[in-house]
Parts: sequence; C-alpha cells; structure tokens
Amino acid sequence: MWNCASLALFLSSIACALPTASIKRDVLNLPFSTAGRDIIDSNGNVFYFKGTNWPGHQEIMLPEGLQHASIADIVAWIPKFGLNSVRMTFATEMIDDIYSNSTDQTLEASVINALGQENGTLVLEQILEHNTQFTSKTTRLEVWDAVAKELADQGVILHLDNHVSKAFWCCGDNDGNGWFGEKYFDVDKWIRGWSFIAQHAKDNWPSFASVGLRNELRKATTSEPVDWYTWYVHMTAAADAVHNAAPDALIFFSGLSYDTFIDPIPLGKTLKGTAGTSTANKTAVFVPSDFAWQDKIVLEIHKYDFEATQNPCPTFKANWYKQGFQAVNASDPATKYLFPMAITEWGFIHNGTYWNQTTYNKCLIEMVEDYQVSWMQWEISGSFYLQTRPGRKPQETIQGLEEFWGLLNYNWDGVRDPVTVENSLSKMIAALE
Ligand SMILES: *[C@@H]1O[C@H](CO)[C@@H](O)[C@H](O)[C@H]1NC(C)=O
Ligand SMILES: *[C@@H]1O[C@H](CO)[C@@H](O)[C@H](O)[C@H]1NC(C)=O
Ligand SMILES: *[C@@H]1O[C@H](CO)[C@@H](O)[C@H](O)[C@H]1NC(C)=O
Ligand SMILES: *[C@@H]1O[C@H](CO)[C@@H](O)[C@H](O)[C@H]1NC(C)=O
Ligand SMILES: *[C@@H]1O[C@H](CO)[C@@H](O)[C@H](O)[C@H]1NC(C)=O
Ligand SMILES: *[C@@H]1O[C@H](CO)[C@@H](O)[C@H](O)[C@H]1NC(C)=O
Repeated sequence: MWNCASLALFLSSIACALPTASIKRDVLNLPFSTAGRDIIDSNGNVFYFKGTNWPGHQEIMLPEGLQHASIADIVAWIPKFGLNSVRMTFATEMIDDIYSNSTDQTLEASVINALGQENGTLVLEQILEHNTQFTSKTTRLEVWDAVAKELADQGVILHLDNHVSKAFWCCGDNDGNGWFGEKYFDVDKWIRGWSFIAQHAKDNWPSFASVGLRNELRKATTSEPVDWYTWYVHMTAAADAVHNAAPDALIFFSGLSYDTFIDPIPLGKTLKGTAGTSTANKTAVFVPSDFAWQDKIVLEIHKYDFEATQNPCPTFKANWYKQGFQAVNASDPATKYLFPMAITEWGFIHNGTYWNQTTYNKCLIEMVEDYQVSWMQWEISGSFYLQTRPGRKPQETIQGLEEFWGLLNYNWDGVRDPVTVENSLSKMIAALE
C-alpha cells in the first residue's frame, strides 16, 4: 500500500507531505508578489486580476445570493464568465462580533436580525435548502470558510476587501463608515479586524491572495483630519497588521474621494496634514523601501460613469491617467515609484443598451488595453438579501432588492444580459490578452 513517504519518493515530489491548502496554493501559483509595475505569480509570470465583486458586507454579513443558489453554483459562474478572481467584501462588524462572542453570529440570528422574524425565517429556509451543508447554527465565519473553500476548489483567486465598518451598503458622505475616526470607523477595531481575518484567511482559505485595506475612503465632517498624512499613518499601520498575520498577501491601497485618485503615491509627493488640526505641520512620504511589505503593494482605483461621459477616449484617458496611472508608466519622468494598479470597481447597468450610450465602456476597455492593469467588475449579484442605502430621504431598507448592474439575474441562475457581457466584460478580458 502506498503511504505518503513512498508515494513522494515515487513521484519525486514532496507535495503529499504538505497540507491540502499548500497543494492548492501551488496549483494556483500563489503567493503573488510585485516587481515594478507588475504582479508576479510564484512561477515568475505576470498575473492580472480579471474579477468581479461579490458583496458580503451588508447587514447579514454573508456573501449575497445564498437564498437563491448553492455556493458551488454561484462560484461556478466566475470561471464561466472567463474570470480568474473575485473581490469579496466584508464588514469589520463581523470581526467585532467574533471578538465579543456575540450570539448574533449564527445563520439564523444573522438572517432574522436583518430581515425580521417572518421574512428572515423564510430566507433562512431558502439558504438551507440551497446549501444543505449548513444548519441554522452554522456561523457566519463558517459560511465564509465554505465560500473560500469552493473558490479554491474551482481555481478562483480570493481578494478580500474591507468595505465598511458597520455593515450596510457603501458609500455615502457622512454615513459613518467613510473616514478614520468617523462614527462607525474605529481605527483600532479596523486594525484588530485585519489581524484576525488576515491570519484566518492565511490558515484556512487556500486561494486567498490579497487584501484591500479599506474601500472608498472619503471626507467626513466628524472624524480625524481628512488628509494624506492621516491616510499614511493609518494605512501603513493596517498594512503592518496584515503583513504580520499573512506575509504572503498582496496589499491594495485605495486613494481618496471614493478611491478616485491616488497619484500622490506613485509621484512620491509629500503627504501633508491639515492646518488648524492635530495633523498641522505633519508630513510623510510613502517610500516603499521603508516597509517589510515593499514587494506586496498594489494601488487600487475606482471608476464609474456618474457623469454619463461623452468625452472622446483620448480626453477620457488623459484625465484618468493623471489620477494615478503614472504608477504603471516607467517612462513618465514624474513617476517616482512604480506599482501595479487595479481598477477594483467599475460597472454600469446591464440593460442591453447602456454599454453603448456613453463613451465610458469603450474608453475603459481602451484604458486597460493601453495600461495593462488588473480589474474587478461591480458586481456579480443579481439581487440582495436587503439593502439600506444611506443618504436617501426617506432612508430606505429594501428586502430582496434587484441589482440591475449584476452579471446574474434576480434568481442568480442565469446571465442577466448577454449583450452587455459580450460588449463589456468579455472585451475587458480580451484587453489583457
Ligand atoms: C469570548 O470567549 C473567549 C473564549 O471563551 C474568552 O476568552 C473571551 O474572554 C470572551 N470575550 C468576551 C468579550 O466575552
Ligand atoms: C417581506 O418580504 C416581502 C416579500 O418579498 C416583502 O414584500 C416585504 O416588504 C418584506 N417585509 C419587510 C419588512 O421588508
Ligand atoms: C505650524 O507651523 C507654523 C509655521 O511654522 C507655526 O506658526 C505653527 O505654530 C505650527 N503649528 C503647530 C500645531 O505646530
Ligand atoms: C508615459 O509617459 C510618457 C512621458 O510622459 C508619455 O509620453 C507616454 O505617453 C506615457 N504613456 C502612456 C501609455 O500614457
Ligand atoms: C438602460 O439604462 C439607461 C440609463 O438608465 C437608459 O437610458 C436606457 O433607456 C435603458 N435601456 C433600456 C433598454 O431600458
Ligand atoms: C454604438 O453607438 C454608436 C454611436 O452612438 C453607433 O454608431 C453604433 O452603431 C452603436 N453600436 C452598436 C453595436 O449599437
């Protein structure tokens, strides 16, 4: 009979002596690191994230869609679309609940607390029907573990994004989640949360490759000073926490104003504090070689079409370039440090016509062709458990809200709009080939 040692001799391989997680990481060519403007896999090849977003940061704090389909069926869509990765979004509140041993962490409590007794009970039944490995007592973290395992089994790279502190839809001005020290954004809990979940992901999620430290930082009226110096202090501290817990993980840094610009980092600008506040006269410069994680840094940027652009692409691209794409252009004399870039959110309504109503889609594809950067489409979800969008008056909380931007339909069992996919997602994939 073969035992591990004899099999290893026979195959001249040590793979069977390693836990399964390590074997999967080999197959997935993990870990990743960076070299100049590129992400490099463990074989030394350039890697681009071609992904979608799968939110898990809203009130229930579970990846969306599980009342409509099994985890295996949802994950299967990702490679079917031609994607290699997924950005999973989570709320710090989920980790706070772990630290406080909250009794709200079971599937049953999560769903009923968010949806109420009547609808919560129904949705819980639907989740358990589609995902028979769970019971009402399964915890949120166990659900995340099952999602992560399935992603690895289907060869999908997992990027973990800290989307909010308090769990609800992101993002609005002064919604409490936007800037360090704002109502819900407790910096210590955020860093504690990263230490916990980065370690947990490293130990349990075989395709875990990278983190996004914080989604869409934005100004707030009641918070720490809103400036690049404050950004520097907290983002580098969080990166230290991630790197100590999970030294292999890439670390994505987002910029300011809803992550629409990050050019001060590749340009090596002096990051200043704010006159008349606690950061007055304080400065820092983000110098990669100062950090243990210098070969793990990726810059992320978001791009939506809120202005329904009709700009010709040369204008669109020239404007956007200045927001941070200097990071990937070694021949720009203004570029001080090269970093890989990732457009971690882009998207628009999938209704068959919008893709061609403005120049956004066309120019976005050209941008990726010209600059060769990673990207993640917003989003896979066809509908949500529920959504509370801040800043709307009256504030709405809608159960079972449809997501018209989703790759999938309402029931998560088919493509919402093949015409849009053919003309946007598929062309974004082709732009990196
Ligand atoms: C949570 O449980 C752990 C293990 O039982 C315990 O050590 C810890 O003190 C508890 N934390 C709180 C906040 O109750
Ligand atoms: C419960 O679900 C039904 C059907 O989806 C919906 O119409 C209703 O608004 C929900 N209740 C609440 C409190 O949202
Ligand atoms: C900042 O610098 C200015 C000019 O040098 C000085 O007047 C001011 O007192 C300084 N403020 C703080 C908080 O150190
Ligand atoms: C890179 O920067 C150089 C120098 O500014 C510029 O001429 C070139 O067009 C840039 N490349 C791209 C693709 O933008
Ligand atoms: C798609 O959405 C856009 C923007 O809301 C709208 O102008 C257009 O009419 C829609 N197309 C269809 C077919 O509904
Ligand atoms: C897209 O829009 C352009 C300009 O409005 C038009 O010329 C072109 O025919 C459209 N293409 C498709 C496939 O609808």
